[in-house]
Amino acid sequence: TGLVVAMDGPSGSGKSSVSRGAARALGLRYLDTGAMYRAMTWWMLCQGVDLTDPAAVAARCSEPAVLSGTDPDGPAIHVDGVDVAGPIREAEVTGAVSAVAAVPEVRARLVALQREIIGDGGIVVEGRDIGTVVWPDAAVKIYLTASPEARARRRSAELAGSTVEAQQQAMAKRDALDSTRKTDPLSMAVGAVELDTSDLTLEEVIAEVLRLVAE
Ligand code: ADP
Ligand code: CDP
Repeated sequence: TGLVVAMDGPSGSGKSSVSRGAARALGLRYLDTGAMYRAMTWWMLCQGVDLTDPAAVAARCSEPAVLSGTDPDGPAIHVDGVDVAGPIREAEVTGAVSAVAAVPEVRARLVALQREIIGDGGIVVEGRDIGTVVWPDAAVKIYLTASPEARARRRSAELAGSTVEAQQQAMAKRDALDSTRKTDPLSMAVGAVELDTSDLTLEEVIAEVLRLVAE
């Protein structure tokens, strides 16, 4: 099978930007697994499912058709034929996604879909559990980190009208949920290379990834 690059790490560490840049440079496909958890969450919110009730989430999670594109230049995400690229980035989804992603049935379904998309490889895949669960055989595993301050600064620069402090608080809450959930918590995979991006430019991080791939 072709090359699989697994890119994991907490939010704002640079996974999406670095993965897309590396995929572009290498002529590989790109998969944003976080977008799939966000798409599932968006659908649950539309349906009025009680997200504080894991059994209710589990009971409904096989219903929506979640379709993810793999073009690094324009990652597409559809739910039941609806383009949800915009709505899945809204604060309401961001605030609810970790609870939905903690439900084992949701993970089982989306991990299966992700493995189908990875297929024969030739892809950079970003998420929280790619190197640990989705594709432990990935030839290159990278764990991106950055200081909480740097991550919050980056996210608030992207989102108009959000302060660094508010971002840092919201991220800390999501990190805690993602790292302590019972099923496949965020953790560094065996064989992963940790890359702290706090004091690097995006170009420097991509160059380091390309170097690791070439090794
Ligand atoms: P994640 O997918 O981990 O949440 P993103 O790639 O969505 O991270 O966000 C990272 C943001 O920080 C982007 O706007 C990116 O341009 C910016 N950024 C600044 N410096 C870096 C760096 N050294 N590495 C990665 N991203 C960086
Ligand atoms: O954009 P950001 O990095 O903040 O988050 P994301 O990558 O879009 O992921 C959103 C949420 O989905 C995470 O906070 C996790 O709760 C969940 N997720 C997951 O559980 N497993 C993955 N492989 C990817 C995302």
